[in-house]
Amino acid sequence: MSTSDNSGLSLQHITVRFGGLLALDDVSLRVSPGRVVGVIGPNGAGKTTLFNVVSGFVVPQSGAITLDGRAFRPRPHQLNRNGIARTLQGVGQFNGMTVLDNVLVGAPKRTGEDAAFEVLERCGVAEHAYSYPALLPYAKRKRVELARALVARPRILMLDEPAGGLDTDEIAWLAELIREADMTVLLVEHHMDLVMSVCDEILVLDFGKPIALGTPGEIRNDPKVTDAYLGAAA
Ligand SMILES: Nc1ncnc2c1ncn2[C@@H]1O[C@H](COP(=O)(O)OP(=O)(O)O)[C@@H](O)[C@H]1O
Ligand SMILES: [Mg+2]
Repeated sequence: MSTSDNSGLSLQHITVRFGGLLALDDVSLRVSPGRVVGVIGPNGAGKTTLFNVVSGFVVPQSGAITLDGRAFRPRPHQLNRNGIARTLQGVGQFNGMTVLDNVLVGAPKRTGEDAAFEVLERCGVAEHAYSYPALLPYAKRKRVELARALVARPRILMLDEPAGGLDTDEIAWLAELIREADMTVLLVEHHMDLVMSVCDEILVLDFGKPIALGTPGEIRNDPKVTDAYLGAAA
């Protein structure tokens, strides 16, 4: 892909302050179509804040966002229309609604139940369509959350810690889904094996600062990255 191609999502020099806390410090990131881009970093590094910026829940103090080269001012209620869908860290379902209705909430208007069933099937939870999220095991609820995001057929799928609380088999299933999704994915994740196995490119944040950007191989061997994690563990 040529460097003059400006398709996809681009974040330029994004800075977010919460009072005296610098949550994102001059962060730039390009998410090209079809790529899987990971954002990693110790707790509090600013990963979810970056997602909140792209979804319009947090408005940066400075910086710019473009979508296909045009200025983009994200607004939470217009994300679907802009072809962006996200899952929340943890699970965020409507417990008073069936699984099927939870998925239809994420769908563009006039999406039929057939399409919702199709995506529930792909996520392996179609048999629970008429059950309620609160009655399902955690891993199944995470799959419903994925189905809700996927049903919109987003151009960009944003996943915030999708592997959190999942066992090895569930994580392997998730990796397969991400690899086969054939869409642009922005993935925030703690689980290194997953990140390393599905991402084309990884941004590492530490205290809001981008400290590394590269392929999984480059990131794995970057001493700055190891230091950040060891520092956090100490
Ligand atoms: N709405 C907010 N108000 C104040 N501080 C916040 C808010 N959201 C996040 N923070 C702070 O910003 C920093 C980055 O948080 P977050 O983006 O959630 O980190 P991560 O997802 O990498 O663990 C943390 O210190 C967090 O406490
Ligand atoms: Mg987070």
